[in-house]
Amino acid sequence: MIQSLHSFDLKDKRILIRVDFNVPLDNGRVTDDFRLQASLPTIQHCLQQGAAVVLMSHLGRPKGKVDEKLSLIPVGETLADMLEMPIKFSEDCISEDARNTSLGISPGEIHLLENLRFYDGETLNDPQFAMILAKHGEVFINEAFGTAHRAHASNVGVVDHFKQTGIGFLMEQELKYLKESFDHPLRPITLILGGAKIESKLSLIRRFLNKADTIIIGGGMSFTFLKAQGREVGGSLINEKMLFTATQILNEAKHQKVKLVLPFDFVCAKDAKSQPDAVYSRRELPEDLMGLDIGPKSIENFKDIIFSSKTIVWNGPMGVFEQEPYAAGTKAIAEKLVEATTSGQTTVVGGGDTAAAIRAYGYHHDVTHVSTGGGASLELLSGETLPAFSALESK
Ligand code: 3PG
Repeated sequence: MIQSLHSFDLKDKRILIRVDFNVPLDNGRVTDDFRLQASLPTIQHCLQQGAAVVLMSHLGRPKGKVDEKLSLIPVGETLADMLEMPIKFSEDCISEDARNTSLGISPGEIHLLENLRFYDGETLNDPQFAMILAKHGEVFINEAFGTAHRAHASNVGVVDHFKQTGIGFLMEQELKYLKESFDHPLRPITLILGGAKIESKLSLIRRFLNKADTIIIGGGMSFTFLKAQGREVGGSLINEKMLFTATQILNEAKHQKVKLVLPFDFVCAKDAKSQPDAVYSRRELPEDLMGLDIGPKSIENFKDIIFSSKTIVWNGPMGVFEQEPYAAGTKAIAEKLVEATTSGQTTVVGGGDTAAAIRAYGYHHDVTHVSTGGGASLELLSGETLPAFSALESK
């Protein structure tokens, strides 16, 4: 069984915490601190319990080479500001100096290691690399949900070298809302899907064809489903290769008696950089225009479905939400989820873009759970077993 952070006596111990500080940087500055914020309760708990904390993370994909642009120094500075305390930093994660710094820190202190992926050993789950990393702590806590779908040295390989291993508070929340809440879910369940790539969401769709009462499909992928229903989609983009799969999904939904709901109307334009032309019904999408957001009738319909659901999972934007003229559909769904949460419904938001959108609107504290994972949240929601959890379970 995976141990919770609460089950350890942390006093005077050195806790090695794998965090996911893979955050966006611009000119050496952290531009979105969501993942840092999400790890604070675990870090603060360890410090308050009288432990010394060693943090390790990857940043980007440097492919086993040192890349100064992917140094964790700016992340450490941001974290130090958030915690209002100094943080020791090592310019390498496995050097003797770094290990000595970990051995030398006192209870209440933090030591952050440099980017794990400056070594190939991390992504190759190299046993030697994992063994050296493990020397940084006496208790291992995995708090890196965003990386839980990877079998790397810092989240899988290290586990064998510890007697005491567990997960932090963020990991517990992710498990609770992306996994356990679907063991005995409150019905009706609605899955709202968007974004362009059907292929990345196939396992999620397949799982929810057995679980959900309704699946709403908005965003770019809706055109492939409309086309699979035999409709014309004008100049909107479809994925030819996924037409057969979309047809299978439509048939399976009928068979399972799951309502699969597509948009009625779209805001259309020549392309995402142009100003909107007008709203068109799905029956009359013009040849020379593409649908870039869901229209007002679709928004109202989706809102009604959300209103009458008890559990709602949202993954994928409804349109090109990064461009103001095509953000209304995504924003409306976010607002409705906030309202639903206030009236006691369970609302779970997963996936990089969707989580970024809800944070941009400032609603991330007003829904039940916003996942810090991209690929990891998709895989966990799809019912897959993630290596980070399996490694801890087998202890
Ligand atoms: C993420 O941002 O999804 C995680 O940090 C994992 O990053 P990766 O896809 O580079 O492994």
